[in-house]
Amino acid sequence: MSKNIKKIGVMTSGGDAPGMNAAIRSVVRTCAYYNIECVGIYRGFEGIMEGDFRSMDARSVKGIVNKGGTVLKSARSKEFRTPEGRKIAHDQLKSANVDALVVIGGDGTFNGGLVFNKEYDFPIIGIPCTIDNDIFGTTHTIGFDTALNTVVDCIDKIRDTASSHNRLFFVEVMGRDVGHIALNAGVGAGAEEILIPEENLGLDRLLESLHRSKRSGKSSSIVVVAEGDKIGKNVFELKDYVEANMDEYDVRVSVLGHMQRGGSPSCFDRVLASRMGVKAVETLLEGKTNYMVGLLNEKMELTHLREAVKGKSKIDRELLRVSEIMTT
Ligand code: F6P
Repeated sequence: MSKNIKKIGVMTSGGDAPGMNAAIRSVVRTCAYYNIECVGIYRGFEGIMEGDFRSMDARSVKGIVNKGGTVLKSARSKEFRTPEGRKIAHDQLKSANVDALVVIGGDGTFNGGLVFNKEYDFPIIGIPCTIDNDIFGTTHTIGFDTALNTVVDCIDKIRDTASSHNRLFFVEVMGRDVGHIALNAGVGAGAEEILIPEENLGLDRLLESLHRSKRSGKSSSIVVVAEGDKIGKNVFELKDYVEANMDEYDVRVSVLGHMQRGGSPSCFDRVLASRMGVKAVETLLEGKTNYMVGLLNEKMELTHLREAVKGKSKIDRELLRVSEIMTT
């Protein structure tokens, strides 16, 4: 066990995601377990520069395992991107005797951590937490599973209206540049078509597919559209396009938006966050730095932060094939 680490700072940065609090709780409780001091850093890198630190013990994180959002708050910091900002951050950490950081967030957070480590040789471990599931080195990021359940629940409800009124719905889901949410939730909710950036279906094939599903006897349809999809039209333009080319459907659009990021985390995300928090602190105590903890083949594994931010999390080709068969 590293004798150099006596105090660990934990922070959340970037977009919040359900399970962030469970991850904070796990880091704090693991520190308490190993008799390491822990400080919560408020508002991410912004809070480091302002020295917004509060001591946390096992009891400070009671009652948050089931809460969405982040009790430590989150922010995007422009100043931390400058060398001057990072110098201020380093001075603040040193004057508070913080020896290492656990950063909870996505690739922007990890990039910030890497630059900081390079300049100041400051020990850092990352915990992947974003609904997008776009991080290399883990099959699941914290928050992804909860977001999927939220999306499936919303689509189930939308389907009630779609089938009652014989409508076609375009449902836009989040995911930034990747289609993990769209593909998984689309399969889970039984969507008739799923549009993701990794596979450009094209407008002609979309129309073809909608005609086919009409001919096969379907009176309503749900098309799940990833926000990063590259078909060349946004959901509202898609609606206009389909209405102009098909009389058979009454078309509506539903953009699910930030409701996908909120809410109580699923059991899967709570367990994942608990495992990742323990692994993050134990990795620091083993004297390692610049790793991200991840879930690979059911086990907690480490991936270098450089690989995590550089690599692309690939869409599951097998699931894509399943979705093609299911939408027949
Ligand atoms: O990264 C999480 C995410 O919710 C993306 O899915 C989405 O594109 C983005 O954040 C939205 O960011 P903001 O909350 O800043 O609008």
